[in-house]
Amino acid sequence: MKEEADLLVVDAAEVVTAAADLRAAGIADVATAWGTRTGPRGASARPLTGKALDDPGLVPRGAVALRGGRVVAVDDEAALLARFAPRARLSAQGGTVVPGLCDAHTHPVFAATREREADMRARGRSYTEIAAAGGGIVSSVRAVRECTRETLAARLRTHLDRLLAAGTTSLEAKSGYGLCAEHELLSLELLAEAHLRHAIDIDATCLAAHQVPPEFKADRDGYVRLVTEQILPEVARRGLARSADVFCDVGAFSTDESRAVLEGARAAGLQLRVHADEIGPVGAAELAGSLGAQTADHLVHISDAGLQALARGGTAPVLLPGTCLSLRSKTVAPARRMIEAGLPLVVASDFNPGTSLMPSLVAAAGLAVALLGLTAAEALMAVTRNAAATLGLPGPRGVLHPGAVGDLVVLDVPSHLFIGYEFGRDPVAAVVKEGRVAWRRT
Ligand code: NIG
Ligand code: FE
Repeated sequence: MKEEADLLVVDAAEVVTAAADLRAAGIADVATAWGTRTGPRGASARPLTGKALDDPGLVPRGAVALRGGRVVAVDDEAALLARFAPRARLSAQGGTVVPGLCDAHTHPVFAATREREADMRARGRSYTEIAAAGGGIVSSVRAVRECTRETLAARLRTHLDRLLAAGTTSLEAKSGYGLCAEHELLSLELLAEAHLRHAIDIDATCLAAHQVPPEFKADRDGYVRLVTEQILPEVARRGLARSADVFCDVGAFSTDESRAVLEGARAAGLQLRVHADEIGPVGAAELAGSLGAQTADHLVHISDAGLQALARGGTAPVLLPGTCLSLRSKTVAPARRMIEAGLPLVVASDFNPGTSLMPSLVAAAGLAVALLGLTAAEALMAVTRNAAATLGLPGPRGVLHPGAVGDLVVLDVPSHLFIGYEFGRDPVAAVVKEGRVAWRRT
């Protein structure tokens, strides 16, 4: 008697499992601690570090069986065809099957794009100059505040549809274009609704400390107090976000202001993430590490002390090469040194209207190869398993292994080595979410 499966994914040239160590250890089910929306839940597999990051756990001519929204087996195709009688099949047509992509850093709640700023950058203006001239984050804040709830929800849906079509099945999403209690809470409410209705699973973060809004220009401390005494406690009380973030940088919040925000967030029971040292070396990584933040993101101008602080604090570095590209950074984050320091490297899109209108993690991983010096395997681990480990979502996810959430992507390339090699064409052919085909190229 053959075993049942809801879906069998076949005809793959290779399956990237991101689980070589788990396979070698013979661990059948990655973990079984917490709970999720599709049944028994577990924590995600621990992130890969050092040399292990360069091992994609390939199964050549592999197949994946899914049942009840979970992966039940990943093995040689002939073995799975003999073992399972699936209700449906999905042919990868000689492509590569990878775990559902996990985006650890996005800003999808925005109302309008900012292409004029991109043109200003093309004409030599810097991010800081554009912000000082009334563009930047504050211009997105104006657009959100002028938008109706329905329109903002529709824009968010469009953004999530694009992310899903690019292979993203789980993501971290920030508020941060409201900058007042009403619109920060609204942004997070829309994310909570989208988490329930949209195929993508969302781990929400409150980024009320993205910028000081114009009405508090003369009273910066007053805004920090509004964030720590009202917005974050309310967000935590209503369970609208798991984490809080602060933009700790030149032209944003100082390290002292950021410390106040992060300590307020912690007191409210929220986890910590930090936009750190993106524009200049301000010591934000040191702050993130010293507070044991989950992640420190950007890190273009991280110092040696900052790198050591991340290692000590158990803080994952989240690198955003799409932003470097669009801001024409002359410097990039020292990814290789981070790997050598044993940090659990993550790569994300930073999807936002100002500095990275790039929904694709395949593109982000490609840029991590081209600009940051990662191998294709390292970049792929950084947008799957390692990214999943920073999300508070029930798992295991970001790996293809028995017991993991049944999220996967079919890429129409014969090998994962096309990441960082082929640019300008989206290879995503199909996206499977919790065992069902959620998107397919037509
Ligand atoms: O991650 N650095 C801060 N926040 C975003 C950009 C926001 C914007 O310009 O709208 C980022 O790059
Ligand atoms: Fe960001």
